[in-house]
Amino acid sequence: MRGTNILVLSPDPADQMYNGRWRDILEQLTTSLQHFGIEVSHAAWTRDLRMVPHRPQLVLPLLAWGYQRAHEQWLDTCKDWQRHQIPVHNPPDVLQWNSDKSYLKTLAEKGAPVVPSLYFDEISTSRLRESLSYFDVDRVVLKPTVSATAYKTSIWEAGQLISDPPEGSCIVQPYLRSIETEGEISLIFISGQYSHGLRKTPVAGDFRVQPEFGGRLTHHEPDQSAISTATKILETIGTSLLYARIDLVLNQNNEWALLEAELIEPDLFLGLDHKNGHMLGEAILNRINGQDIEQEKQMT
Ligand SMILES: Nc1ncnc2c1ncn2[C@@H]1O[C@H](COP(=O)(O)OP(=O)(O)O)[C@@H](O)[C@H]1O
Ligand SMILES: [Mg+2]
Repeated sequence: MRGTNILVLSPDPADQMYNGRWRDILEQLTTSLQHFGIEVSHAAWTRDLRMVPHRPQLVLPLLAWGYQRAHEQWLDTCKDWQRHQIPVHNPPDVLQWNSDKSYLKTLAEKGAPVVPSLYFDEISTSRLRESLSYFDVDRVVLKPTVSATAYKTSIWEAGQLISDPPEGSCIVQPYLRSIETEGEISLIFISGQYSHGLRKTPVAGDFRVQPEFGGRLTHHEPDQSAISTATKILETIGTSLLYARIDLVLNQNNEWALLEAELIEPDLFLGLDHKNGHMLGEAILNRINGQDIEQEKQMT
């Protein structure tokens, strides 16, 4: 009998991300999933997936790093996957809308607790000044709507020049000082169930928590209020997701708020999961065998 085989999408060899640490994450995934008899191969997300050998039973875009630098191509590729019914999860429509952070606006309008945000098609000093008064703060964060790893993300205050501004559409948010002390917490959900959590804190003098800027990652068990907030956000999204990473920060009222719902290629940090990716393995098998779909049908 043929074993279960899945394909993980990796960066485009032409992209600088190709030299990143994605191979380490792939190795971790491969080892965790081996226990379930799942064989993992990989291919660049830019490949025609109809041409890859051994037709994979499931395709995970978990390492499709760098898509944000080829955003139009990403959107077209997702549409192709849809058209050719490639079994990509999360589903291609999710991979499309989640690639532009203006989804935060939709989620906020539906009542999800999101970091307060203003959206502009282009940034200017007068818009930043307006944002300071709108939020009634003295510092704001400016970032592109299509972005990753804090690309062109900066703090701005009155009187400053805009350093390295995003080209085109962007988001402005109050600068949440809690990032310096509490950091950002990430809650990982597999098939809608909470799996594990971690905390990311920046080095002194920085606000970006990413390891690329010296940020520190530690295992973290979120409190019940963080789990409830993340669950509410997933309910608002309302789509069946194989995996999700919900990034939360404490807002000005000391309440958890959504910074980002990572539904494309989140690092699931299986190294910090005491269950060693057990939930992911089961969820993949269930999805391939159609069991989770059956469960959803029974629930509706
Ligand atoms: N409103 C904010 N207040 C404080 N820090 C922020 C804020 N928005 C973003 N950051 C910092 O910038 C980083 C990158 O922003 P984020 O929205 O997570 O986008 P991405 O991870 O896609 O680059 C965050 O991880 C956090 O460290
Ligand atoms: Mg982020």
